[in-house]
This record gives sequence, structure tokens and C-alpha cells, in this order.
Amino acid sequence: MTNSTSSLEQLAEQVAKNAYSPYSTFSVGAAIRTAAGNVYSGCNVENVSSGLTVCAERNAVGAAIAAEGKSMKVEEVFVTNFNAEGATVHCSPCGACRQVLAEFSSPDTKVTYRGAENDIETNMGQLLPDGFTF
Ligand code: THU
Repeated sequence: MTNSTSSLEQLAEQVAKNAYSPYSTFSVGAAIRTAAGNVYSGCNVENVSSGLTVCAERNAVGAAIAAEGKSMKVEEVFVTNFNAEGATVHCSPCGACRQVLAEFSSPDTKVTYRGAENDIETNMGQLLPDGFTF
């Protein structure tokens, strides 16, 4: 793991502690490094009206866009999690988050997330082949 990936990991771990997840008790943290070299993070924010829950990855994208504007490009993503027992489990970015990340990234954008045993290093092209566009 490169130094920049491990600093994204630390940021994702830190922000996961701020997750608002009283309904699922599942906390997720995402950290993004942009092409401009900045880092942003987001955690999941749940709602009593379940459909209004926003995932960590999409909140991180929102923070990056708010800071850098429409030219923001995602260079690398790290996603971590922990459950009610404090255990980290396999959790890949959901389909909605893949589509949102794809909006601001390229197929070779690196994405790392937790697997059952080891971290899984992949890229956006693998995560969302033939994503929606028009
Ligand atoms: N969650 C994320 O934050 N990111 C994902 O990619 C998958 C799911 C959150 C949403 C919800 O708060 C909790 O995990 C359980 O679904």
C-alpha cells in the first residue's frame, strides 16, 4: 500500500466514527483523493425514512465537489466500515455509489475497500462496467 493510500485509509477510519447509523448500526467511512491532490471524507448518514439515507461514498463526493467545484476529479477512493460489534466486514461500494463515483472518475481510478480477510484493491472500470451514460 502506498503512503497516499494509507493516509486515505486513516482518514476513512476516522470519519467512520462519525457515522450516523442508529438504524443499521453499521458505520461506513469513505475518503477520496482528488486530481488536485486534496483529500475529502464522508460517513453514512441514515434517516428514519430509510430511503433518505446517504452512503459514506456519496457524502465524500459531495464534500469534494463543494470544496473544488465542477472540475473535481476523483483519483483514488478508500472505503472502510465497522459493525455494532466493532468488527470490520466485507463491504463493497453499493451500486448507487458506483454510479455517482463514476461521474467524477475514470475506469482506472483506484478503489480500495474491506474484504472478508484482506483489503480489496480494484478500480472503477471493474466496479461499474458499462455504467449508465447518455
Ligand atoms: N452504506 C454505505 O455508506 N456505503 C455503501 O456503499 C453501502 C452501504 C451504508 C448505508 C447504510 O447507512 C448502511 O451502510 C447499511 O446499509
